[in-house]
Amino acid sequence: MREKTEYMKAMLDLIRTRRSIRRFTGETVGDEMLRTIMDAGTWAPSGLNNQPWRFVVVKDPEVKRRLSGYTKYSQVIEGAAACIAVFLDVSRSYDREKDLQAVGACIQNMLLCIHYLGLGGVWLGEILNRREEVERCLDVPEHCELMAVVALGHPDETKGRGNRMPLEEVLIKDL
Ligand SMILES: Cc1cc2nc3c(=O)[nH]c(=O)nc-3n(C[C@H](O)[C@H](O)[C@H](O)COP(=O)(O)O)c2cc1C
Repeated sequence: MREKTEYMKAMLDLIRTRRSIRRFTGETVGDEMLRTIMDAGTWAPSGLNNQPWRFVVVKDPEVKRRLSGYTKYSQVIEGAAACIAVFLDVSRSYDREKDLQAVGACIQNMLLCIHYLGLGGVWLGEILNRREEVERCLDVPEHCELMAVVALGHPDETKGRGNRMPLEEVLIKDL
């Protein structure tokens, strides 16, 4: 029982202390860690367990530089040790709304895993303004639609507690 309580505390602490990290040291992140992060993503729930997420991992500085040209967060991408571009495989899609939710859950799993590993990361959505150009740049199959880019690396900033609305404001009813 005590063990369970400690596990729960650790989990809540992980969720609460995750912050978006946008500045990174130059240190690299090994392939094993990158695979652990993507594997965590794949354990997200999805409607009918259709697992509609697909990834492209970018470590090559030249490819990162090109990718950075499609967003105002270019410094975040260039500074990151790696970026994971997350796609929706529309050929596996059964209900767009639910598939988008599943991809969101996948990204959150990866961000929590990144934090757990002592790394930092950020979900970049603004880059979707240039979705088609990014898809061409990364040369993904036609049926893969860009959902986000997760930039990650060893953190070079510390973040405070963060800011959230109190539960009383988001809880509409307690019936
Ligand atoms: C769908 C989505 C899109 C986001 N897009 C960006 C982005 O383009 N650039 C960025 O710096 N942060 C982006 N973020 C990160 C948010 O700014 C961040 O999660 C929010 O401010 C709360 O801060 P925290 O993650 O540190 O708790 C995005 C987050 C989500 C969920």
